[in-house]
Amino acid sequence: MKLTSDELRKKWIKFYTDRGHTPISSASLIPENDPTVLFTTAGMHPLVPYLLGQPHPAGKRLCDTQKCVRTGDIDEVGDSSHCTFFEMLGNWSLGDYFKTEMVQWSYEFLTQVLGFDPERLAVTVFEGDSDCPRDDETAALWEKCGIKRENIFYLGKKHNWWGPAGQTGPCGPDTEMFFDTGKPKCCDKCSPACDCGKYVEIWNDVFMQFNKNADGTYSPLKQKNVDTGMGLERTLMNIQGLQSVYDTDVFTPIVGKIEKLSGKSITDPEHVKAVRVVADHIRTATFIIGDERGVTPSNVDQGYILRRLLRRAIRFGAGLGLKFGDYSAVADAVVDIYAATYPELAAARDKIKTEIDEEQTRFERTLENGIKEFEKLCKFLQTDVIPGKSAFRLYDTYGFPLEMTVEMAKERGFKVDVDGFNERFEQHRKLSQAGAEQRFKGGLADTGELTARLHTATHLMHKALKDVLDDPNVNQRGSNITPERLRFDFSFGRALTPEELKAVEDKVNAAIAADVPITCEEMTVDEAKAAGAVGLFATKYGEKVKVYTMGEFSKEICGGPHAARTGELGHFKIVKEQSSSAGVRRIKAVLDADTSRNTASN
Ligand code: SER
Repeated sequence: MKLTSDELRKKWIKFYTDRGHTPISSASLIPENDPTVLFTTAGMHPLVPYLLGQPHPAGKRLCDTQKCVRTGDIDEVGDSSHCTFFEMLGNWSLGDYFKTEMVQWSYEFLTQVLGFDPERLAVTVFEGDSDCPRDDETAALWEKCGIKRENIFYLGKKHNWWGPAGQTGPCGPDTEMFFDTGKPKCCDKCSPACDCGKYVEIWNDVFMQFNKNADGTYSPLKQKNVDTGMGLERTLMNIQGLQSVYDTDVFTPIVGKIEKLSGKSITDPEHVKAVRVVADHIRTATFIIGDERGVTPSNVDQGYILRRLLRRAIRFGAGLGLKFGDYSAVADAVVDIYAATYPELAAARDKIKTEIDEEQTRFERTLENGIKEFEKLCKFLQTDVIPGKSAFRLYDTYGFPLEMTVEMAKERGFKVDVDGFNERFEQHRKLSQAGAEQRFKGGLADTGELTARLHTATHLMHKALKDVLDDPNVNQRGSNITPERLRFDFSFGRALTPEELKAVEDKVNAAIAADVPITCEEMTVDEAKAAGAVGLFATKYGEKVKVYTMGEFSKEICGGPHAARTGELGHFKIVKEQSSSAGVRRIKAVLDADTSRNTASN
């Protein structure tokens, strides 16, 4: 069936509005107030509080198209179907309909709206274990619709269980739908679980009825939900019988632009991977920069992922002969495709292009230094093998991809200790992953005493900012604390005046001088709200939260740790106030040990 991306989005929304669903708009790609994940990875993600039981203002039946980023499979990009950005078509029942309606509707949508031949559909259902029984009910519903018994497969948790999105939260058994490409079975056991290519996944219906707790156990949710997700790009590819997602209309203008700029064709086996990588990565970068909460390239968090995507695109693009300014020209094509569906991209067009050009300049500069380092290395080498350690240094300090080092070494008759490189790379990856996990625990880089004090100062400053600026929209947008300083991002539209900064400092120092004890209580989110605590209510996964109280000065939901008394903090001083991104300000502040300046006379 010939169907454009726009038609598919519209058919999806119409199908569900006809069945009583309210369409909601895509949430930001950068999860709001959720420090546990970097990007929105599924349509359910912004809906977690509602899956847990909070009433959604738009009702119990919702549908949407959600922007998603998943970078776990970044190395697979370049094949026919992996993308780092994708759109997820989704519908939800928040404690309303369940399996009967959902299976029926899935079948109807696939066969009647998208025109799939029922004979070529295969489905999987949960085989059952000690946490949740075998899902015979769903299997029977599929059979009743018309799916052949031999096309219904029972699989375990690895395949037929979805979620939670983070460590804890809503999850449940699912049933997945696949298109049978007609290829012969790879073996007797061939099923949608194997990756031989016979079965291509289309859609996932999750029966979200459990909460995974921090101790690994599952408890039933207050309500039984349905959460479904269908990848727009892959569905377009499947229904049109195309060879890859890059042949669909959300990609062809991007690919066309790359071909025009480089003079290389995506049909050339030598260049197909590079063209796809550039197309995918620039598309994702455009969405990350152009998001309503967009970020720019940096060395941390979302900014770091963005940097890696851009540099990887530039690296692959160099092999195609792409030059300065070509990547931002590709981004132009991306914005053109999506401007009507995601107007935030059109509004940010100039910013997107400038950021991409600037990152290209920065990358090319480090590459130059890396090449100098490489030459030096070759000169002093005693053997013909470049040690893994040196290759890793080139990668880590100069952004040199391994394959580039290998190629350059080859030109000079050297080899590279690739295993040694991989070992170090793995160590580094584990370390930075552990670091990232730590960092997301409330923005703390470690949990030492100095950090805990600065963390306490952050709470006092947050409250002081709200009071001094007297604006209900002043809210935390990010936090990063090391033993040396705190860094705090908050929503506010303009620079603070010197008087305002002084007033904030004075308030914090007055709270320190009062030397009040800091207490912590566990309570439900509702109780915390009732107690007047500020915090990230919207996307809290667990039921109970910790609330830290600092006398009359501050009450905030937080994971800790904190100082025991405010008097431990010393003297609080703001060292910098600047813009972080549009509508977000950033303050850096320090504590020094000298408390004598906090007296009333000061
Ligand atoms: N949350 C499920 C998924 O991501 C269904 O939307 O596949």
